[in-house]
Amino acid sequence: MTKRFDVLVIGGGPGGYVAAIRAAQLGLSSACVESQAYADAKGEVRLGGTCLNVGCIPSKALLQSSELYDQANHSFVMHGIGFENVRMDVATMMRRKDNIVGQLTSGIRALFKKNKVTLLPGRGKFQGRDNDLWQIEVAGKDGSTGREVVEARHVIVATGSTARQLPGIPVDNKLICDNAGALSFDAVPRRLGVIGAGVIGLELGSVWKRLGAEVTILEALPDFLGAADQAVAKEAWKVFTRKQGLDIKLGVNIGKVSLGRPGEAPVRIEYESGDEAHTLECDKLIVSVGRVPFTEGLGCADVGLKLDERGRIAVDGQCRTNLENVWAVGDVVPGPMLAHKGMEEGIMVTELIAGQAGHIDYNTIPWVMYTHPEIAWVGKTEQQLKSEGVDYRIGQIPFSANGRALGQGDTSGFVKMLADARTDRILGVHIIGNNASELVAEAVMAMEFGASSEDIARICHAHPTLSETMHETALAVDKRPLHF
Ligand code: FAD
Ligand code: NAI
Repeated sequence: MTKRFDVLVIGGGPGGYVAAIRAAQLGLSSACVESQAYADAKGEVRLGGTCLNVGCIPSKALLQSSELYDQANHSFVMHGIGFENVRMDVATMMRRKDNIVGQLTSGIRALFKKNKVTLLPGRGKFQGRDNDLWQIEVAGKDGSTGREVVEARHVIVATGSTARQLPGIPVDNKLICDNAGALSFDAVPRRLGVIGAGVIGLELGSVWKRLGAEVTILEALPDFLGAADQAVAKEAWKVFTRKQGLDIKLGVNIGKVSLGRPGEAPVRIEYESGDEAHTLECDKLIVSVGRVPFTEGLGCADVGLKLDERGRIAVDGQCRTNLENVWAVGDVVPGPMLAHKGMEEGIMVTELIAGQAGHIDYNTIPWVMYTHPEIAWVGKTEQQLKSEGVDYRIGQIPFSANGRALGQGDTSGFVKMLADARTDRILGVHIIGNNASELVAEAVMAMEFGASSEDIARICHAHPTLSETMHETALAVDKRPLHF
């Protein structure tokens, strides 16, 4: 008999698996189709998508290991702790990372079982619609084995994204790598080239730099971290280039990329900077120039599922596509390509399907870069407010004025808060510093509740904590900081 569900999710990444679980929690019969893209050693489908398998989680595991190595080499000494011959074992580092990934991906399997979500391993493809039911073909990796057709009242597409390729630069994930290869080096390259000074370039560039590689990052744009608040970008530039030694070249034009013959450098990148031609020789190259939505083999054209000019599934403000009862969430639709954004969309959609008031506020989605110092923000940047003609007040306090940061020996960076000059409502908070990823949560919460800077200034923050910098920054908006 044909399997039939209230909700069928295509794709088991953060957008998809959360939607499938929430649908089941809401009493809907729920299934998730996930391809073999991230099968484990036994050939079993791995849930969690890009984020768990080759994105957020493994990159953060390596960032943590490399940060500890860097601290052991450079920071312990100021605490009076010294030792000789700090050793690094890349294989152990990678094993630890793989174990964390394995633990989390199998955890989602367990959550599916607990919530009675049916996992359908295979590639999902639209076939058509009959009697208000969508027919979805679930085929094996090669399009044949285990082929079956299932039916669902609602379909949620959560097929994610893949790394953007540059023409003439073939990724083999051995010498020229995308995110997947860059998370699995078996040794530290002596010279690492990176194309793209975005989030992946800076996070993974930092990992391998801390472990001892000479890292050169080639960025096409003339400005560094254009999406961040300019004050944050300026501080980050100073720390990453001058203190940490990342060699970042802006405004470059990448030319020919070739593999070397025996005896030559493994990878040669020809590029132009200004009017000058240069060549970068390196042992490995990471290409991190953004990601593109993934809809290959989904059968969009067969059923008339509309894509936009950039290949993303076109949706309204509540993730409805142009087809009745077909929804799309996560990286495959417009908006920031962030795991938590996809998860929130998945929850919103299933709650709407269940007749509830699903909701997402795209203005309060936090951004985090897990470099050191970390960079995190929510809301508008100062340059955005200027260009929108909004009248605002600013508070900015450095971590060097914070007792906890001094105790931790990590005082770089600051918190900057932007509030409406008339209403005092918080419009944006920008943090560069240790633990920015955690500190930004207070700002997100404040903005979700429509708080003013005065609201934060009147909240008691534990002493001594880094969060006091948020408090002090709120006071600074009103020009009355107490400790600076
Ligand atoms: P995906 O995670 O891409 O999942 C889509 C899934 O659908 C995949 O498992 C795929 O196999 C499956 N699929 C595709 N087509 C089909 C089909 N036809 N049938 C069945 N299954 C199909 N975001 C953050 O918020 N924080 C971070 O720290 C962070 N770090 C990152 C680090 C790196 C190196 C990278 C590459 C990304 C990072 N991201 C981070 C982004 C984050 O991984 C994505 O935003 C997130 O994974 C998107 O979730 P998704 O569910 O939309 O898609
Ligand atoms: P990105 O968009 O962050 O950065 C890509 C960079 O490459 C940009 O600076 C761009 O100007 C540059 N670029 C593009 N074409 C180029 C060319 N031909 N030559 C030189 N430079 C070029 O994309 P990235 O780093 O690949 O990451 C993809 C996405 O994954 C991110 O946008 C983000 O959504 C997500 N991600 C999120 C993380 C987080 O939340 N901490 C971590 C890593 C990825």
